[in-house]
Amino acid sequence: MKNIVSMADFSKEEIEQILFLAKDVEANPEKFSEALKGKTLAIAFFEPSTRTRVGFSAAMQKLGGNVVEVYESKLSDKMSAPESDEDTLRVVSDYADFVALRHKSRDLVKNLKINSRIINCGNGNDEHPTQTLIDLYTILKEIGRLDNLSVAIAGDLRGMRAGHSLVLGLAKFDSIRLTLLSPKLLSMPREYLNSEVIEKNNFEFTNEDILYVAGFPPAKEVSEDERKSYILNASMLRGKKTIIMNPLPRVDEIDIAIDSMQNAKYFEQSKNGLFVRMAVLLYSYQSPS
Ligand code: CP
Repeated sequence: MKNIVSMADFSKEEIEQILFLAKDVEANPEKFSEALKGKTLAIAFFEPSTRTRVGFSAAMQKLGGNVVEVYESKLSDKMSAPESDEDTLRVVSDYADFVALRHKSRDLVKNLKINSRIINCGNGNDEHPTQTLIDLYTILKEIGRLDNLSVAIAGDLRGMRAGHSLVLGLAKFDSIRLTLLSPKLLSMPREYLNSEVIEKNNFEFTNEDILYVAGFPPAKEVSEDERKSYILNASMLRGKKTIIMNPLPRVDEIDIAIDSMQNAKYFEQSKNGLFVRMAVLLYSYQSPS
């Protein structure tokens, strides 16, 4: 698959192929140092980002490729001749082999007809598939398998694109026991659920293998007391081996005292992002047009 748009598009085998590539990249970086020599990645981010923007830029450079950035400010009404984002991306695609796109629109990335390979780095509140590949790689490294897992995902599940992609990604594996924890108003949209899940409207996790704690910014529909009831503190993890994951950035959903505990894997998760983004670029490039 040359375009990485939705986790729904992947087979289990395709996911495993990318994770295997990431493992090889992590173990043997020198083997890949010229793999994309002479190729160009355009970073077209119309929303803010740190990890994904810098991560893809570093990944491309470690593969011997070049990076160009498209700045949102150029698209403001201060331009002498504003143009549509579609037109901008069409032009950029004539200069670049890959376009890594983050945009507030859910549909733009799905409908884009451009020459470059497209990597969806977040389309509104819909999906964030490369984050999910990073999450799955981290789970594989920490637990050693992707089948037969118990996973709880907590927070604003309505708006969390990383959570939507994670649910779609986990659904490709066998015997996944999924628990979704959120206020009722912020529950996971049905469109992402194609297998049985347990849903609770509180922060009651048990001894799951993984607790994926999502960013939970203040939301109009939820009282501050209810929002704060989803903040993870160290005492909640006493006696538990549950791995704590978070796509970052952290708001206040994980107490910083947890950072030094064995359970905390979110900074490893972020570090793994480099190898997985390199693997995503390689996989997309190796896929037929
Ligand atoms: N996890 C993630 O997407 O982070 P950024 O918004 O910093 O890219």
